Amino acid sequence: MAEAVAPGKVILCGEHFVVYGEPAIVAAIDLKAYAYASLTDEPGIHIYSSKVSEDALQPIREVVKLLVESKDARLIDKGLMVSINSGIPISAGLGSSAAVAVASILATSKLLGLKLKKREIVSLGVKAEEIIHGRPSGIDPTISVYGGILLFKPGGKIRRIKPAKPVELVIADSGLKRSTGVMVRRVGELASRYPDVFSRLRSTVRMLVRRAVEAIIEGDIEELGGILNMNHGLLSAIGVSNSRLEKLVYAAREAGALGSKVTGAGGGGCIIALARPRESDRIASSLVDAGAEAVYKARILEVGAM
Ligand code: MEV
Repeated sequence: MAEAVAPGKVILCGEHFVVYGEPAIVAAIDLKAYAYASLTDEPGIHIYSSKVSEDALQPIREVVKLLVESKDARLIDKGLMVSINSGIPISAGLGSSAAVAVASILATSKLLGLKLKKREIVSLGVKAEEIIHGRPSGIDPTISVYGGILLFKPGGKIRRIKPAKPVELVIADSGLKRSTGVMVRRVGELASRYPDVFSRLRSTVRMLVRRAVEAIIEGDIEELGGILNMNHGLLSAIGVSNSRLEKLVYAAREAGALGSKVTGAGGGGCIIALARPRESDRIASSLVDAGAEAVYKARILEVGAM
């Protein structure tokens, strides 16, 4: 048997606009997916998980099949099994599907003795995301493989960002499930209805991301908080927030968060709040009072799956 583990993520700045080629900042968090690959007597590729739905497992089956075929297609007749155990909430904007795909691909490649490069694992992860939501930027599988905090730009070089001070984040899950594909399509409709407005929003996000990178590197968390708030405003503008998410975003700010925003595809899922040192407990309990289904104090993971 071979095993692999891959982290989930939060997007600090730039989601959705990254699908259109803009840069975004993403961080790996200590919520993880585990995958165990083994040979079995039952012919075919079998992917099991008690938590992940069959719809979400199908893309993983397809990319694992691609990987097995690249090594020895006869293994499919013999039988291969991948069991997944994930601690990342599903459909919540925390990169669960990418982490599950990355862990499964990596465990299978280890079992088959394939020494895949990071970018090869990412590109199989992106294939799985394409099946799931049609138009992925690639940010989720990339952070899951590399870990840490990254400045990501589709098709561009990945840049690691080293924070001068720890970035303390509280994550609150609204409990509303939503599909990334639906949210990305909705934003696409808005972008084609208002191309001139959307292009100005894109350039504004580009500026915010640039300033957020500087703020992280300089350890200026007040500045970073302000940028997160402005980024949230733009996410509201493109229609990916709603009253439940707004309630959490404002509860966090009223409890002293320096900034708070929707993270990931929105429409439901999670918000993140940036806390001053030692203030995350107070913010977390306000978020519970404001109706969050679950609250996590995120620890940023320096290592990814590889
Ligand atoms: C999903 O985590 C982030 C989106 O920007 C989609 C993507 O980049 O693939 C909404």
